[in-house]
Amino acid sequence: MRIGILGTGVVARTLAGGFLQHGHHVTLGTRDPGKLSDWRTLHPDARVGTGADAASAGEVVVLAVKGTAASEALRLAGAANLDGKVIIDTTNPIADAPPDHGVLRFFTSLDDSLMERLQREHASARFVKAFNSVGNALMVNPVLKGGPPTMFICGNDTDAKRIVAQLLDQFGWETADMGTAEAARAVEPLCILWCIPGLLRNEWAHAYKVLR
Ligand SMILES: NC(=O)c1ccc[n+]([C@@H]2O[C@H](COP(=O)([O-])OP(=O)(O)OC[C@H]3O[C@@H](n4cnc5c(N)ncnc54)[C@H](OP(=O)(O)O)[C@@H]3O)[C@@H](O)[C@H]2O)c1
Repeated sequence: MRIGILGTGVVARTLAGGFLQHGHHVTLGTRDPGKLSDWRTLHPDARVGTGADAASAGEVVVLAVKGTAASEALRLAGAANLDGKVIIDTTNPIADAPPDHGVLRFFTSLDDSLMERLQREHASARFVKAFNSVGNALMVNPVLKGGPPTMFICGNDTDAKRIVAQLLDQFGWETADMGTAEAARAVEPLCILWCIPGLLRNEWAHAYKVLR
């Protein structure tokens, strides 16, 4: 597939590498392409452009920017370039405030979520929450003693979630569909829980798995 990625941080780079490894075409979008000059020497097949370039190039768009900048990054990408697109939303609504005893602070409440806000702002785009509740080191081809981990996803469009589940399958994940966009109120805070062992004890090598 053609994948457009908004962002240049560790998540954008990691997922870009994963999509390339699995045979997809990748365009990264940024306000400052110079940030990626070293990365591009390792990944010459990737294209780099503006957010609008990445969004228009992608059949699937990956949103991998700071939570506080998510709305602005989508605005820069251009609403017309997002129309009808599957958007994999990796973001978390982490506030610009320090954690409290290892517990991250969010700028949303439990009756609201970042993905719902973004879905309201871009009603014709098809948002699917994914990759938000695991560290970047385990996003692509995770190898864990407990077997393949579970990625919790949600979103309003069934077909979009099917496409994302197929991509997650390629990346070595089981998928647990939690329902509509409102479920992001539960899926986003999984990031808070996931980060606690890391922030308290520098333990980052874990992932969630649903057992039955
Ligand atoms: N780090 C992880 O392991 C991890 C794991 C799961 C989920 N996440 C989530 O994934 C997202 C990306 O995380 P990250 O650690 O890779 O990077 P990050 O430092 O949270 O974000 C970096 C990106 O944010 C963009 N950005 C910052 N301010 C902006 C603005 N005003 N307008 C437009 N874009 C702006 C930058 O775009 P430019 O390139 O244009 O400067 C840059 O690409 C976050 O929401 C994070 O919560 C992170």
